[in-house]
Amino acid sequence: MAEEIKLIKVTIDNITIDVPVGTSILKAARMIGGDVAPPAMCFYTKLKGSGGKCRTCLVEVSKGSNADPRPMPKLVASCRTNVMEGMEVRNITSERVTDARNGVVEFLLLNHPLDCPVCDQAGECHLQDLSYEHGKEGTRYEFKRRTFEKHDLGPYIQLHMTRCILCYRCVFVADQVTNKRVHGVLSRGDHSEIATHIEKALDNDFIGNVIDVCPVGALTDKTFRFKNRVWFTKPVDAHRDCPTCKGKVTLWQRGEEVLRVTGRKDQWGEVEDWICNSCRFEKKHITDWVIEGPTKISRHSVISQGHYLGLKKPTETFKAVHGGRDPKLLMDIHSISEVNRPGIDLSAIPGPATSDVFNAEKKK
Ligand code: SF4
Ligand code: FES
Repeated sequence: MAEEIKLIKVTIDNITIDVPVGTSILKAARMIGGDVAPPAMCFYTKLKGSGGKCRTCLVEVSKGSNADPRPMPKLVASCRTNVMEGMEVRNITSERVTDARNGVVEFLLLNHPLDCPVCDQAGECHLQDLSYEHGKEGTRYEFKRRTFEKHDLGPYIQLHMTRCILCYRCVFVADQVTNKRVHGVLSRGDHSEIATHIEKALDNDFIGNVIDVCPVGALTDKTFRFKNRVWFTKPVDAHRDCPTCKGKVTLWQRGEEVLRVTGRKDQWGEVEDWICNSCRFEKKHITDWVIEGPTKISRHSVISQGHYLGLKKPTETFKAVHGGRDPKLLMDIHSISEVNRPGIDLSAIPGPATSDVFNAEKKK
């Protein structure tokens, strides 16, 4: 007979829920869902030992438990603190939490460059989302931001160390998902950096997953680099018969072209199944995949803003609302611009799509 699971009561932001003993506050809050769930930049459900590094998930425990109702004096990391019977937690209802979270975001941004306009992670970056909610318009930091020697991690993965927030997720992925870890966090304190000790490429079968778990743009996909903005692409769920992984992925398409392949993510931005390098980097043709349908984007991300599910097109045309006149000022950018040259498949360019690629095509 299956063992009975003991449930305990916890109240988060005045909502009470029964959860199994041993559940963390973060997981209990995620069971309630919505804004009650604190943000998490380093915790990752599938990675053992993750959490406790970034402090974005801080919450206030206003009642410890039924047995000891005293409040906890300091804010606690919800990903690393388990619930107790009768515990009362405050997240969005606590000014202390909001104030601390503002401080954590300011701290994370001390050294993080503000290069969102050129960063491939923009639009799906958790730090970008956080800074919109909690960031200040300026910095109080007077020192130079950290810089690092560049490390080449091979043909598939681009490292921008200046963007790293040292969440350790990529290190746990290499440890727990691949059969050999060749990178890690080197040095201490302000000098800590993600690197391989001797210059080495990350070329393990499942190492591409470090890109999916990185909450910022420190690790990005070289085969997608500078090819498009993520909000211009359409995510669709697809699968293939893969001998190495389950082959269930999200394709990021622009027209018929597959610009990027990633693991499927849940509403908390965590991948459902790890995917292999071959699915991620080598299967970039639409015929490699069986398309299942549009990906459901449930996070309040910029991708869902331009989403195409349930799209209602206005019935009246410009002409109809403009007294029968055709639009004069609205031009079809594609007919006057040579930027999107029809002869160039972005997905087929081996490296980043730069002006050199387009100029070379022009000279032909
Ligand atoms: S590179 Fe990304 S995943 Fe790795 S520690 Fe830095 S922020 Fe975290
Ligand atoms: S998510 Fe809890 S400390 Fe980072």
